[in-house]
This record gives sequence, C-alpha cells and structure tokens, in this order.
Amino acid sequence: MDLTSESTTAAVIESFAETADPRLREILQELVPHLHDFVRKVRLTLPEWEAAIEFLTAVGQRCDANRQEFILLSDVLGISMLVETINGQEAGTESTVLGPFHVVESPQRENGDTIDLLGGNEPCVITGRVLGIDGAPLPGGTVDVWQCSADGFYDVQQPDVQPLGNGRGLFHTDAEGRFHFRTVVPSHYPIPTDGPVGQLLLATGRHPFRPAHIHFIADAPGHRSLTTHIFVAGSPYLDSDAVFAVKQSLVAEFAEVDDAEQARRYGVSSPFRAASVDIVLEADRVG
Ligand code: BEZ
Ligand code: FE
Repeated sequence: MDLTSESTTAAVIESFAETADPRLREILQELVPHLHDFVRKVRLTLPEWEAAIEFLTAVGQRCDANRQEFILLSDVLGISMLVETINGQEAGTESTVLGPFHVVESPQRENGDTIDLLGGNEPCVITGRVLGIDGAPLPGGTVDVWQCSADGFYDVQQPDVQPLGNGRGLFHTDAEGRFHFRTVVPSHYPIPTDGPVGQLLLATGRHPFRPAHIHFIADAPGHRSLTTHIFVAGSPYLDSDAVFAVKQSLVAEFAEVDDAEQARRYGVSSPFRAASVDIVLEADRVG
C-alpha cells in the first residue's frame, strides 16, 4: 500500500521499534512526528528543503577543533538554554550555557589575585562564597572563572593584544567557602557572526549581542558541578540576550565603591567596582 503524507509518519516511527537502547528509541520516536508535523504545517517546498540542507552543511563545515557552529546554532535557537534549564539544579543557583570561550585551561590563581593582565581600566573586585543548599560553606571547592575584557573580547579572540589567560582564573574556596579576585567589569559583546549562524541572525534582523557577564564553573566535593554566569546589572542587552541565557537571579550590581580602606584591603585603587556572588550547589545525586 502506498504511504501517504500522513501514514509515512507512523511507518517511520515503527521503523525504530527494534532500537535496542530504549532511550534512543524514545527520542527518535518522539522526534519524528514533530519533524513531520512541521514539514506538513509549513508545507516545506523542495527549494526550501535544499536551502535547509545547504545551511546545515555550512554549519558543519564551519566546525573545527576550536569552533562549534552547531552549538552556536543551538544557542541562538534557545535550545542550549532550554536543555540547561530542564536539567539544572532544583534548589541551588541557576545554571546557564557554557559558551564557546572556555577553550583553554584557566590558570591556577590565589584568592586576591587579579585576572586582569592588561590594566588601564577601573578595577573591580569580585567576592563570593560557595555554599550548600543549607547555607553551609563549602571549603575545598574550585571556582573556574572566565570573562571578556572591558572592550568585549576574550583572550583567545585577540592573541596579538591579550596574553593567554587574561580574564581567566581557577580559584579555590577557603575554610569558609569564600573566594575573591580582582578584575575589570566586562563589556557586552557579540557572539561570533562570521559563520552561517551570523548569516541567520542577519537574515532575520536579530542582533548578535550578549549582555556583560562573568562565567563560573563551581565544584565542591560531594556536590553537583554548576556552570553559570553573573550578569552586570544595567548592561545593554539584558532583555534581549542573543542566546536567551539571562536569569534574573544571576543579575548582580557592580557598585562603585569609594573607600580607601577597602581599596587598600583588596589591593586596588579607589574608586573601584565591586560585586558579590553566592554560588549554591546541590549535593551529588546518588544512583
Ligand atoms: C559566551 O557567553 O561566551 C557565549 C555563549 C553562547 C554563545 C556565544 C558566546
Ligand atoms: Fe561569555
């Protein structure tokens, strides 16, 4: 019997019935009807199907050891953030996307060190604590930090301007779960637009910018690893992040502090900017 545009869907679902891995079977059998419904709903034409294949091929061809255009596509479609959100912590600090710039190992640094190897901008002090959901400090943890410069570039984007490791540091929490470091306030910046994802944004009239933020990966013994950011309150694009990753709970004030005594304590000039962050981790899930 000939398959119709409706019965094809059931046939393709059935074709996966013998998939040995039950999770793979579930994913494929759920995916197929969504894809088929989409094709029927928009009445996809052959030239449009070809354009889609060409686009996805270009996305694949733009991937290499340092560039992952498929993740960028997932980011601008809001899928990366959706996956983060449904798999995130229930009680702890909210998570956000990893992004493409965690590409080099962060240099080990001591609490109080600076991650600003360029100088020349208003200093900023970040103080933080890593805590369990009961509020107990988590000593022996690590906080991996990376951010762009005050001009909106990561070190790896400007190898001739910034030393590798600028804006990066791996810190350890002290006996009270605390960490702190010196830096500069990062700028908002555009995601990479020199590939097919950039073309997609252009064709759809979307801007490529992310609001200013600092990335963190926090770990502590016996606890779930957390990938998150803090966003600079008042930054442009907080309401229209190109990758849909802003959570209100992660927006932090970077207040100006004009206090010589505090400046001396942190080893910065006055006035300086300061933000604080509590990172709350859930205990490891057993089983
Ligand atoms: C980032 O914040 O580094 C980032 C995240 C997603 C896409 C591009 C950049
Ligand atoms: Fe970033």
